[in-house]
Amino acid sequence: MFNKLACKVNVYSFLSRKLLGTSTRCTQLSSQEIFQREDTYGAHNYHPLPVALCKGEGVYVWDVEGKRYLDFLAAYSAVNQGHCHPKIIEAMKKQVERITLTSRAFYNDVLGEYEEFVTKLFGYDKLLPMNTGVEGGETAIKLARKWAYKVKGVPKNEAKVVFASENFWGRTLAACSSSTDPDCYEDYGPFMPGFEIVPYDNLEALEVSFKDPNTCAFMVEPIQGEAGVIVPSPGYLTGVRKLCDKYNVLFIADEVQSGLGRTGRRLGVDHEEVRPDLVVLGKALSGGLYPISAVLCDDEVMMTIKPGEHGSTFGGNPLACKIGIASLEVLEEEKLAENASKMGDILRAEISLLNHEIVTDVRGKGLFTGITVNEVNGVDAWEICLRLRNNGLLAKPTHGDKIRFTPPLVIKEEQVFEAVEIMKKTLDSL
Ligand SMILES: Cc1ncc(COP(=O)(O)O)c(C=O)c1O
Repeated sequence: MFNKLACKVNVYSFLSRKLLGTSTRCTQLSSQEIFQREDTYGAHNYHPLPVALCKGEGVYVWDVEGKRYLDFLAAYSAVNQGHCHPKIIEAMKKQVERITLTSRAFYNDVLGEYEEFVTKLFGYDKLLPMNTGVEGGETAIKLARKWAYKVKGVPKNEAKVVFASENFWGRTLAACSSSTDPDCYEDYGPFMPGFEIVPYDNLEALEVSFKDPNTCAFMVEPIQGEAGVIVPSPGYLTGVRKLCDKYNVLFIADEVQSGLGRTGRRLGVDHEEVRPDLVVLGKALSGGLYPISAVLCDDEVMMTIKPGEHGSTFGGNPLACKIGIASLEVLEEEKLAENASKMGDILRAEISLLNHEIVTDVRGKGLFTGITVNEVNGVDAWEICLRLRNNGLLAKPTHGDKIRFTPPLVIKEEQVFEAVEIMKKTLDSL
């Protein structure tokens, strides 16, 4: 089996080197060799679009054969600042030679600087540092449960956390337990108790759920990303804030994908000027260099957790903190939220002019755009993404018939038009 594979790999390798030469390549392996090696040795828990990348700069990425693409996924919005942003790389390089990890057993000279910077920027009392987005979500829920018992007075082990249908916040057992997507939860039971799911964008259902006095929190994405960039009705987030105030329930905004400039504002909730009780950040908090997440909230909630009651070996390490500061500075200095707002409006206006028989819906805010596509002549969203790839643009379907367009926020107008030309050419070819 292994020999057969090795032999195939060598033939591909030889052919691709023969055909393409080696000058523009960043590895001697061909794309096919890379696909096969991952398939053989890695778990099949993803279904990647067949393209093997080895280099990124700004809005562009290159495959191992040297072909350039516009990256319209931006690592699920982790690369808002553009691939390999020089300022963030520089901050990382500088810190990596000093000290990278101390653990929270000791103080380090950067964590406080980072915490002060981020809390002042977002206007919260305190920050709790973690690594991945899903850990940020877990942390927020733990804080809400602690607050339920220590402050709200919910009887022991009776706290209820509410989620919106079609939410996505990661892959831990708690995240699976609150999911309505069978791919996420099927065969992973038994599930976490104390969770309830209400329809997204439905304040009446939320109020019914909040009438239970044991309800301690509602966790929601201001715009649902993985569900296909679903924008709630105007006034929904304001309504959530009002209900949370009325029933003494914590509003947790999962801004892991919608935050940090993506929607054209610093946070997704800023579109309605509401202030959640807890904000979960991740992804672009590192500009894509490193897993960094954080929960922000005020003392009433944060100070319910005492030493030893929550933590992470890597959370708050000095390398992550320096990367986090630089990533946020880039968003602010380069006014990337403003650029996302302008470029997103142009992108959606142009997409709206594309073939309506195929693109049946265009929605979003800033550079958080989703489209729904009709299957035409057996060509579905996956096949459209393959053809977009052939024409030089990378995007990925989500939930069958939806495609998310989330390029880095550094995109320029001419690059938006370059992307729209590729989309037009691709759809015309159907
Ligand atoms: C809204 C939202 N929250 C949380 C997460 C989980 O982030 P991570 O994959 O870093 O754990 C994601 C990931 O896509 C997300 O979109």
